[in-house]
Amino acid sequence: AVLVARRASARARWRRAVALLREFEEGCATPPARLRQVVDAMVVEMHAGLASDGGSKLKMLLTFVDALPTGNEEGIYYAIDLGGTNFRALRVEVGAGSVVTSREVELPIPEELTKGTIEELFNFVAVALKDFVEREDGKDEQKALGFTFSFPVRQTSVSSGSLIRWTKGFSIENAVGKDVAQCLNESLAGSGLNVRVTALVNDTVGTLALGHYHDEDTVAAVIIGAGTNACYIERSDAIIKCQGLLTNSGGMVVNMEWGNFWSSHLPRTPYDISLDDETQNRNDQVALSVEYLLQYLYPWLGFEKMISGIYLGEIARLVLHRMALESDVFGDAADNLSTPFTLSTPLLAAIREDDSPDLSEVRRILQEHLKIPDTPLKTRRLVVKVCDIVTRRAARLAAAGIVGILKKLGRDGSGVASSGRMRGQPRRTVVAIEGGLYQGYPVFREYLDEALVEIMGEEVARTVALRVTEDGSGVGAALLAAVHSSNRQQEGS
Ligand code: GLC
Repeated sequence: AVLVARRASARARWRRAVALLREFEEGCATPPARLRQVVDAMVVEMHAGLASDGGSKLKMLLTFVDALPTGNEEGIYYAIDLGGTNFRALRVEVGAGSVVTSREVELPIPEELTKGTIEELFNFVAVALKDFVEREDGKDEQKALGFTFSFPVRQTSVSSGSLIRWTKGFSIENAVGKDVAQCLNESLAGSGLNVRVTALVNDTVGTLALGHYHDEDTVAAVIIGAGTNACYIERSDAIIKCQGLLTNSGGMVVNMEWGNFWSSHLPRTPYDISLDDETQNRNDQVALSVEYLLQYLYPWLGFEKMISGIYLGEIARLVLHRMALESDVFGDAADNLSTPFTLSTPLLAAIREDDSPDLSEVRRILQEHLKIPDTPLKTRRLVVKVCDIVTRRAARLAAAGIVGILKKLGRDGSGVASSGRMRGQPRRTVVAIEGGLYQGYPVFREYLDEALVEIMGEEVARTVALRVTEDGSGVGAALLAAVHSSNRQQEGS
């Protein structure tokens, strides 16, 4: 009788785990109709953000980039890429329609510099760049610099702009509101280096520049890595909030800061709300891992929390933790699942990508990283399914974001362009894309591609190419430095 009772209660616990899984799956559902609602909400918010500052959660920041590289650029340029845990300096030699050389140094940014003063951080950058430039080109060379600064910046020109707020673990109080290009120029001059910022850009904008350099049909760029964001080329007359400011009648690149996008159509689950709470109650913080700190400084980001690398693993961990508490499928290991950020997104990807018949990689990850001793195959399958649901929702929402941009540009094949004009045959459209999550996770890419087809239909989706633009954020910034330093010379002559 005891045995029978035990079996019955084990079955009940398993049923509870399966019920939680179903509930989560339903909560994350992204059928095409819902994705289209997200697309439409994105378009509405884009219009609102272009109409006035603060008009939408989408900041739709002006970049003053009104000319993109064409292939005619020539010379040697430098770029600095600052936007995460590492700092990179690149030397880019362009000519004869191709990027001839690209050498780079990469250094981790000492943790204390992300919390100190802007002078300390930029002096560190200047010293590293000086060593690099002198090694490559000697002391007296005068060179133009593209500065990729992947934080929200209110630009005042293509080479100047003030920091709106820090993200990704940085909290240098005395920098908010300051012109970051000017601060860097001061540090560069102080170090005796003859290099000045001629282009200050977001990482998405660098990626768009390199994408456009390779293919003139490139109209937008998307980053899906630790964070997520997009930019695209907008017509000047559609940027209502700065009419009169823009002299160029053509277009300008707009940095959407789409990580901040929010709509009631986004499929939000109780786990997303827990994640929000975790990221907002700063005093409740227990584990001080780098990732924990990173997400801590992103509390206001809606879209980003459902899509980007900082969060996906954590959402899955929250689901597994609840299953452990309510269903006992992980035995006594419930406590081991209670520490935030122990399941990183690369681990989530490795779990989902495990195609061995006995899910041996899943077993290893559970044992080594989550301290869950040997689990039966059906439990491992459950874990894979949780990771799959999180991945699928993220990739499909990213696809909806991309279609939002295409729709705003009248390139999604839906009939009437946002300007009200009828469109003819869909044109070929290229979207440059970069970021560790997209590049390193094939299943994510498959889900994203699949959703593009579901939303736009096979025929239109065939006209849209997502093109991986390796190193775009850095190399693209150097190319923009090239474009804008030659523009300046022409204006001066
Ligand atoms: C964050 C930043 C944004 C950047 C993105 C990708 O969302 O706010 O500027 O483009 O991360 O790095």
